[in-house]
Amino acid sequence: MSEEQKKSASRARPTTDEFRAFVASGWAPRSTDLPARSEVAPYAAERRAAVSAAFPGQRLVMPAGGLKVRSNDTDYVFRPHSAFAHLTGLGSDREADAVLVLEPMGDSADGGTPGHDGDVGGDGGSPGHEAILYFRPLAGRDSDEFFGDSRYGEFWVGARPTIEDLEAELGITARHIDEFADAVAKDAGQLPIRVVREADAAVAAAVDKARAEAADAVGAAMGEQRLEAEHEADDELSSFLSHLRMIKDEWEIDEMRSAIEGTHRGFEAVIADLPEAIRRGRGERWVEGVFGLYARHHGNGIGYDSICASGDHANTLHWIKNTGDIREGDLLLLDAGVEVDSLFTADITRTLPVSGTFSEAQRRIYDAVYAAQEAGIAACKPGNRFSDIHDAAIRVIAEHLHEWGLLPEGIDVEATLDKEHGQYHRRWMVHGTSHHLGLDVHDCALATREQYTDAQLKPGMILTVEPGLYFKADDLLAPPEFRGNGVRIEDDVLITEDGCENLSAAMPRTADDVEAWIARIWSGRG
Ligand code: GLY
Ligand code: MN
Ligand code: MN
Repeated sequence: MSEEQKKSASRARPTTDEFRAFVASGWAPRSTDLPARSEVAPYAAERRAAVSAAFPGQRLVMPAGGLKVRSNDTDYVFRPHSAFAHLTGLGSDREADAVLVLEPMGDSADGGTPGHDGDVGGDGGSPGHEAILYFRPLAGRDSDEFFGDSRYGEFWVGARPTIEDLEAELGITARHIDEFADAVAKDAGQLPIRVVREADAAVAAAVDKARAEAADAVGAAMGEQRLEAEHEADDELSSFLSHLRMIKDEWEIDEMRSAIEGTHRGFEAVIADLPEAIRRGRGERWVEGVFGLYARHHGNGIGYDSICASGDHANTLHWIKNTGDIREGDLLLLDAGVEVDSLFTADITRTLPVSGTFSEAQRRIYDAVYAAQEAGIAACKPGNRFSDIHDAAIRVIAEHLHEWGLLPEGIDVEATLDKEHGQYHRRWMVHGTSHHLGLDVHDCALATREQYTDAQLKPGMILTVEPGLYFKADDLLAPPEFRGNGVRIEDDVLITEDGCENLSAAMPRTADDVEAWIARIWSGRG
């Protein structure tokens, strides 16, 4: 029964007082046991302390986001905004429409600007904030919501936590979402308010309204300029929260290890089923489904749409249609990652010869990409800059393209690497070699260039190293035997005190090791 059907006059259900009383009665008492404090709670508290120290005296509003309609009365599965997940520790599908507010304690509103890196972790003088989580708690059985609300009601989507449940689980003060609008508007003229705008348009609008009313109350002029300044302040908060995720704590690193372990299993399940994927036809879909099954079983699901690209499809960088066949002799480029319940995701690519062995041409391409990846991984160490990883890998790519005679006449390796006048190699590898990885597959994306591309690598960062070479079937500059083959190798790397740890090293990478891996799985030796 859909919401529309339920609303339609011809199908209207009786809602007499007698019926309501009947539905509300006859249930066993609810359990009064409170959930245990979650393992992530102390880590989330530290993250909130860093935010508090950077924005003293300011009201900070971090929404989870709302449900999105898929069609008619059917919603997509909910996934909270990553800043909200990071600061609360809530993962999987929790909690639609919730809003985390860091409310300054004391009367310290100073309108100050956010602290820079060095301030994270506390400035000693900060009066701090109280974390308050506004959310929609479990409704009583005597409410209309209980049986009548297909979006939130217990009959339709299951029981929600109570206020006491969430406080016990997270160690955060919790309040009913109905109190949020008044709370966010309270004393709005007395203290700066910032909101993560992109997380929830309705919450951003509520903050805008509160700020506008406060400005009107004191007759503040220049509405446009005020709005622009407020939105800039909001963007500053979003950027800070994105950058805050760049150094992973030990709990996050463990979550990443689990995501990678699940991804490893998913890849092995795909390898085991390659003959079946070929036999059935529409093999890319089969691969997508098999990986998705393992992702859903190990964790929350896939961390991004899997790229299951066979043959020439591998040369379409974001091939997520996955509508093609897989044919004997093809390379299958599988770029996929498991997202665990905490929402941390792996991002791994292996390029697999679907018949078990690489052709000579496929192996030449593969070995070049592998050499580039080795150079990129070697550059993953503290003191190097993020951009050094790409520079190291792309040099190896350029060397191979030059050796194969593919660069234009008169263009050598140095000439193509010239950032202003070269870059010819990009015809065959257009993308970057690395990105930060974590709650978002492209994590920390709102950090500034200084904090990201130009920044030094530091222990605790997790990033991908993923060079590739792509020779389209219709690329007349490529050797005929290369055409229709695309190769990428992608691993997830943790920067350590003295270098790095390849977190996905257990998944074979060299051409020989990949062939042996496939043979081992097909022989049943796992
Ligand atoms: N899977 C997307 C990427 O590798 O960045
Ligand atoms: Mn990636
Ligand atoms: Mn990837």
